[in-house]
Amino acid sequence: MLRRAWNWFDDLTGLSAMLRPLLLHPVPKARKAAWLYVLGSATLFVFLLQIVTGVALSSAYVASSGQAYSTLLFISSARFGSIVRGIHYFGASAMVILIGVHAIRVYLMAAYKYPRQMNWLTGVVLLFLTLGMAFTGQLLRWDQNGFWSAVVAAEQAGRSPGIGNWLGHFILAGDTAGGATLSRFFAAHVFFIPSLIFLILALHLYLVVHNGISEPPKAGQPVDPRTYRVWYKMLLARDGEPFWPNAAWRDAVFGSLVVLVIVGLAIAIGPEPLGRPPDPTLIGASPKPDWYLLWYYALLSVIPRWSEDAVIILAPLTFAVLLIFLPFVASRGERSPLRRPWSLVIVAAIVLTVYHFGRMGASAPWSPRLAAAPLPAAVVGTTTGPVAVGAKVFYDKACEFCHTVDGYGGIRGPDLSDAGDRMNADQITTRIYSGATNMPSYRGNMSQADLASLIAFLESRHKIPPAAGTAPVKR
Ligand code: HEC
Repeated sequence: MLRRAWNWFDDLTGLSAMLRPLLLHPVPKARKAAWLYVLGSATLFVFLLQIVTGVALSSAYVASSGQAYSTLLFISSARFGSIVRGIHYFGASAMVILIGVHAIRVYLMAAYKYPRQMNWLTGVVLLFLTLGMAFTGQLLRWDQNGFWSAVVAAEQAGRSPGIGNWLGHFILAGDTAGGATLSRFFAAHVFFIPSLIFLILALHLYLVVHNGISEPPKAGQPVDPRTYRVWYKMLLARDGEPFWPNAAWRDAVFGSLVVLVIVGLAIAIGPEPLGRPPDPTLIGASPKPDWYLLWYYALLSVIPRWSEDAVIILAPLTFAVLLIFLPFVASRGERSPLRRPWSLVIVAAIVLTVYHFGRMGASAPWSPRLAAAPLPAAVVGTTTGPVAVGAKVFYDKACEFCHTVDGYGGIRGPDLSDAGDRMNADQITTRIYSGATNMPSYRGNMSQADLASLIAFLESRHKIPPAAGTAPVKR
């Protein structure tokens, strides 16, 4: 009965004739490396999960500056709503991680070489579109973090030469962030970028089938565009297997595992809690974008001022151009990472940079330039005497912009919470007078009286174990 129904349906639609070559196309046996080939399909799994949860969220979300925040509060207050938001939140992280690792895998195995240059190119576009989704998504929360992350990004973009004004204006949909910004980000996040992703994804998948899955690289087996296709055909005939089910089961197992982990996290931890609603009068707010963008904000906050324009605009542009031209410049030759040691160095450098600045960004307040508030009396420990005056000097002379004391201040210089344990008055004086790399010299800019109280203050700082039951004070 079912068989007859299927035959009838198949006869009218030609579905099996279309699916058969997709499912049964031969792939090289990957053997030991087989599990490395599941990252792309897992990204696709998570993307589908994001669509389902995204559509669900959008059915209760109002994209207006007056209501976005409260509708999200409403969604999060329901158990099911909170889980859906959680899945969407962890799904976003998973998608960024998976697409990143997938790109690294393809790069290390040089699967971008002939004839798969277009596979790589569409993949690069998908990578940037995914980051675009991550960036536009965080503003939709319409809390302090999401709001200020967009404002900071617009300010950064506004400094690019020539098109800066236009770009900043374009991102915010106006001169300042407001309701129009939210509409613009919403349209980008639910209509514009996803439809581009669908389009490019279809192309990407078509190319994967058309060019065939790359075989695991072997040292001493370079790619030669003149002979590759014939050679690959022979390889498949000799040592291929149908995609379904021989390779597809791994995609299914890993993809399901990823989805299970995401749902598990969403149930156990729940979505990122909403921050306070955005308050444009809070110019001292230190925004904290989602972790996958945080490293870049942190990087921007510590580079020297003169290099900012170059780093903000030129660096991402150069990176994008390198990614685009890579498969055409290096379209032939050795694929094994063992014969391309530089590829390992480059990947390690990128991963370490992201990790380092990500950690730096995670310790708020991470931007030394945003004005730190003066140390509260509870942290100083006294309101009178040289120690209290020293705490004020510490703030007035901008030491606090770069140095942290008990969680207050910037992180450009070392934490001075335990300065009294580590340094004596002479050492501190020397440092203040002579400055250091990234620390100005205060010689001629600090009175004897100020210096004395500053030293009294710093000498009073010791590592105290936090008293039981009190939360550490953070700005
Ligand atoms: C522009 C940022 C900046 C400002 C402003 C600044 N510092 Fe520093 N400071 C640094 C950096 C960076 C270092 C580490 C230098 C190094 O590693 O050689 C440092 C090192 C120090 C050290 C040595 C810490 C250690 O653990 O070795 C002391 C003490 C110190 N600063 C005190 C001050 C005081 C007091 C002020 C204000 C009068 C001040 N700093 C202002 C950036 C700054």
